[in-house]
Formats: sequence, C-alpha cells, structure tokens
Amino acid sequence: MSFNVPADAYGRFMGKYAEPLAGEFVDLADVRPGQRALDVGCGPGALTAQLVERLGADAVAAIDPSAPFVAAIRARIPDVDVREGVAEQLPFSDDSFDLTLAQLVVHFMTDPVSGLQEMARVTRTGGLVAACVWDHAGDSGPLATFWQAVRAIDPGAHDESDLAGAREGHLAELCAAAGLEQIEPSRLTVRVRFATFDDWWEPYTLGVGPAGAYVTQLDEPRRDALRTRCVRQLPEAPFEVSASAWCVRARA
Ligand SMILES: C[S@@+](CC[C@H](N)C(=O)[O-])C[C@H]1O[C@@H](n2cnc3c(N)ncnc32)[C@H](O)[C@@H]1O
Repeated sequence: MSFNVPADAYGRFMGKYAEPLAGEFVDLADVRPGQRALDVGCGPGALTAQLVERLGADAVAAIDPSAPFVAAIRARIPDVDVREGVAEQLPFSDDSFDLTLAQLVVHFMTDPVSGLQEMARVTRTGGLVAACVWDHAGDSGPLATFWQAVRAIDPGAHDESDLAGAREGHLAELCAAAGLEQIEPSRLTVRVRFATFDDWWEPYTLGVGPAGAYVTQLDEPRRDALRTRCVRQLPEAPFEVSASAWCVRARA
C-alpha cells in the first residue's frame, strides 16, 4: 500500500501522529536497558529512534519493505541494523530479540497472523511482542474527520475501517490466532495541534497511505468538494486532533 513515497511526505502526514505515539508505545512496552529490540515496519524511524534512545543503536534492529523509508532511517540513525523486507518473512534467527514491536503496521501486512507469528519466532520465549493500530473503525483515529467527509460525499468509498486490527479487540484476536500468550489489550491517545486548516489538509494531497491514494485519484472539483466538507467539519484553526490506537502487549 502506498508507502513508496518520500519519507518527508510521510513525516508531514502520519509522522505528526506517529512520533508522539512512539513515545507512548515504547513506555507501554516497558523497554529496559540491556534488552535487544526489533522494530517491524519501522517506516522512517519514529519508534526506532525511541528504542535507540533507551537501548543504544547496537541493541536495535529495524525492517520495512519501503525503499525510501529504509534509506531515510539509515540516514537518520546510521548505526542501526536496518533491513528491507516484510514482517511475514523476517530475516532474523529464532529468539534474536527480547522485544519485537510493530507500530501502525499490522493493518498493512498481507497476512497479519503470519506476520505476528514471525514476530514471535524471532523473540525469545517469554519476551514481549507488541503492536498498535489506529482506531480506524471507530471515530477516534487520526483520519476520522477525513473519512467521515469522504463517506458523506462518496458513500461507496473504501475507507480503512475494515483493516486488520483497526477495530476494538481485533488485534488481540490476531495475537491469539498467532499463538501469542498473556495478551493484554489497551489503548493509547495522542493529541496533535494544527495552526491552520491547510497545515491539516495539505498532507492528504501527498499520496501517502490509503487516504492519500484516495485524494490523489480525485479530479479537481471532487477534491475541492472534499476539502470544503473537511473545512466545515473541523473546528476553526488553531485546533487539536486527538488520535487513538488499539494496542496489545503479549508474550512469545
Ligand atoms: C503507517 S506506516 C508506520 C511506520 C512506522 N512504524 C511509524 O510508526 O511511523 C506503515 C509501515 O508499514 C510498512 N509495511 C507495509 N507492509 C508491511 C509488511 N508486510 N511488513 C512490514 N512492514 C510493512 C510500510 O512500508 C510503512 O512503513
């Protein structure tokens, strides 16, 4: 899915939410010095940077299938072992890590259960596997206003609500199907401030992810109609957007 985009475009769009979420997610994972960690679907490195801060670059590895993101994270954090690849086929031996994390990735995996099984395989027995996915099925995800506006104008549009892990309880079900143990679901919320409406809107036009892909295929009149609808739905600027993600911690 549309992640063959410049890392800067991702940073201006989802990175605004992913960066603060990474700080919360790494706290939830209870990362301790001396541990070895893997960031699966690392993107340009929001979570990897948090892991490196706590564990040091030598103790952290990261993997993502997007070539521009892999290049960006290698430039951002040069000493981390970064691979190009997918969760479903992790190029690491069994029991290589104390914790394996996937922030905002399970919903993009081709086979989420096999991706989680692979995360468990490379984690030592009893080690932590943790994942989080935005609440795209509810009304508290970061893209809720956007998809509400799309549905009002284009009721047949395919939004992100049916993606894996995007509804309450589904990440835990996927973890159980993958054979993980001691599954603990939770939820994290971050708030992001926008100075103007265009600060909020412009990143949707950069083609990132399903929302960006939707905007890219609209002709100008339909794009203008969607933009106008979003203006009507959002508070007057400056405003804050609250974004929640479903999370799970589990044991390999
Ligand atoms: C929303 S981004 C999240 C990136 C990063 N974890 C963050 O929090 O900013 C989703 C990421 O999942 C990656 N991805 C897509 N399919 C994947 C798969 N099968 N295995 C691992 N990563 C995948 C994409 O390339 C993209 O970097």
